Amino acid sequence: MRPSEYTAALIQALRADAGRIRNARVLEIGSGSGVVLAVMGALGAASLCGVDIEDEAIASSALLLGELGHGGIADLHCGDMWLPVAGRRFDLIGANLPHFPMEPVEVAGRLPTWSAGGADGRLLLDPFLAGLADHLAPGGRAVITHNGFVDLGSSRDLLARSGLSLRIALSTLVYISPEKLALMTADVLRAEEGRTIHRYGPHTFAEMHIAEIAAAGTLS
Ligand SMILES: C[S@@+](CC[C@H](N)C(=O)[O-])C[C@H]1O[C@@H](n2cnc3c(N)ncnc32)[C@H](O)[C@@H]1O
Repeated sequence: MRPSEYTAALIQALRADAGRIRNARVLEIGSGSGVVLAVMGALGAASLCGVDIEDEAIASSALLLGELGHGGIADLHCGDMWLPVAGRRFDLIGANLPHFPMEPVEVAGRLPTWSAGGADGRLLLDPFLAGLADHLAPGGRAVITHNGFVDLGSSRDLLARSGLSLRIALSTLVYISPEKLALMTADVLRAEEGRTIHRYGPHTFAEMHIAEIAAAGTLS
């Protein structure tokens, strides 16, 4: 449950707009280590809800939030995506979901559920985006990681169907290890190399965005 540079970028974006977290009811789907919830607790969130499919992640989140003094406002659920929070709405929803285009396998000691997003990377991303409108409180927003090599246009189209829009809050490059690159769906690698994936000899970097999502017309 070691946080990655994706999580670091997500935290950077959340900290840059900290005023919106104070007193907010927050949810993280795929809470992993619990560190994103811990950051939101430190920034004054009113409540911290976390969902993860792995028992180990829920245990890790509970331990961290307890140690940092946020256990009293934490509500953690082991389960699949939106199921544990059916019918509930939140002011802020964070997610760093597995959306690397590859089939589920263990990479660098990570559980297969940590990064693998299926052949096109959208296995978890699409149901997350499709369910978002039902879980955002009025005026609420989501902040998520979004690989550049997983089509942003498809995400925008999917969100538009439920009246939401997406803007890029932050972009950065992430290092892709040779081991992970070898697992990337070949069609995606072929299409994205030189576009969002940049190779320099044995070293590969890819574009990654932090996307902010809210009701259409409300994002600057
Ligand atoms: C990239 S990790 C995010 C980790 C977290 N942000 C951190 O830094 O510790 C993705 C997380 O999503 C969880 N996950 C995968 N599939 C899920 C699902 N269907 N529902 C809920 N969580 C899921 C994984 O168990 C993993 O903890």
